[in-house]
Amino acid sequence: MNKSWKTALLMVALLFSGILAACNSSTGGSGSVSVGIVLPTRDEPRWVQDEQRFKEALEDSEYTTEILFSQGSSAREKENVETLINRGIDVLIITPQDGDAAGAAVETAKKEGITVISYDRLITNTDAVDYYVTFDSVSVGAAQGQYLIDQTGGTGIPLYLYAGAASDNNAFLFFEGAWSVLQPKIADGTFVIANSSEAEALKDSAELTRDQMSRILGQVTTNWDPNEAINKAQTHLTAVGPDLKGDVAVLAPNDGTARAIADVFASDGEVSSYIVTGQDAEKASIQYIIDGKQSMTVFKDVRTLVTDAISIAIDILDGNTPETTGSYDNGAKEVEAKQTDVIVVNQNNVKQELIDSEYYEASEFTGLE
Ligand code: GAL
Repeated sequence: MNKSWKTALLMVALLFSGILAACNSSTGGSGSVSVGIVLPTRDEPRWVQDEQRFKEALEDSEYTTEILFSQGSSAREKENVETLINRGIDVLIITPQDGDAAGAAVETAKKEGITVISYDRLITNTDAVDYYVTFDSVSVGAAQGQYLIDQTGGTGIPLYLYAGAASDNNAFLFFEGAWSVLQPKIADGTFVIANSSEAEALKDSAELTRDQMSRILGQVTTNWDPNEAINKAQTHLTAVGPDLKGDVAVLAPNDGTARAIADVFASDGEVSSYIVTGQDAEKASIQYIIDGKQSMTVFKDVRTLVTDAISIAIDILDGNTPETTGSYDNGAKEVEAKQTDVIVVNQNNVKQELIDSEYYEASEFTGLE
């Protein structure tokens, strides 16, 4: 290519990027975006809801924001972060698709002087994370495990364990919490593990190392994917005899996988009843709970998480030091954290916790009393 062509191309490129920048600035008053938000996927209602709650919370804000989704891809996530850096953000709020892989993306942001807030999932093994806003994830798992204990009776109850994606630090925290309450009841014979030889081999260990949990997750992960959950549940039910059916307990890590697993268990003629846990209070699962198809969910009020993330961002933009309630070790540093409690929801309190609190509207459900 000769030189004049190169110059011409360069000029076109410059002109084009100028037009792009002008278009983007139209979303925000001052010409650039102050807070960039990156969420993992639109394919799960949980994260679409976070987007909506962010929009509601930011409606009257003087700060400009932009929300991008990574659609389950760490590469896309990195591109999203780069796009937002080019928009001139000062604060990045990000839920990593993969906690380790996101390190590279936030390190790029950090080099530009951007403050990084890990949202709901911790970015691991990098010191480029400034704050973490989160629910108490260990207590989510403990609440799920405790529910299974409280709602079953007798001994020798078949227990099916499922977990989240190993690339998500939360999956370990949820499992750790569940194991802390379930393990004594497995060790004393109340429950019999039906679908994980690794968990069975560790049944006398009150606390598990990350490595031990990884081995169990290797057998029972859903990868947060309802289809994978269906396949695993079908495989597990095909592999066991009638002694591991009847009245069973199922630890499902979140609502998307809970509904999938519940459908499989409901269609097995040899399963007479099942108790199944969940998490996120997704609308579809609230309907399942009303209909008696899912036993419980752990309600994480996203409005609180959004408010916490935004107030940290605003403190930073205003030059103030954000308030935190503790810290989380991400493998490279202690990350200052703001943590929120969770609420267990079942048929008994679903109306009070989700309708009366105006989280959802009664008209979104049928059969609600
Ligand atoms: C977790 C999150 C849960 C659930 C899950 C699947 O990290 O804490 O609320 O949505 O991911 O996306």
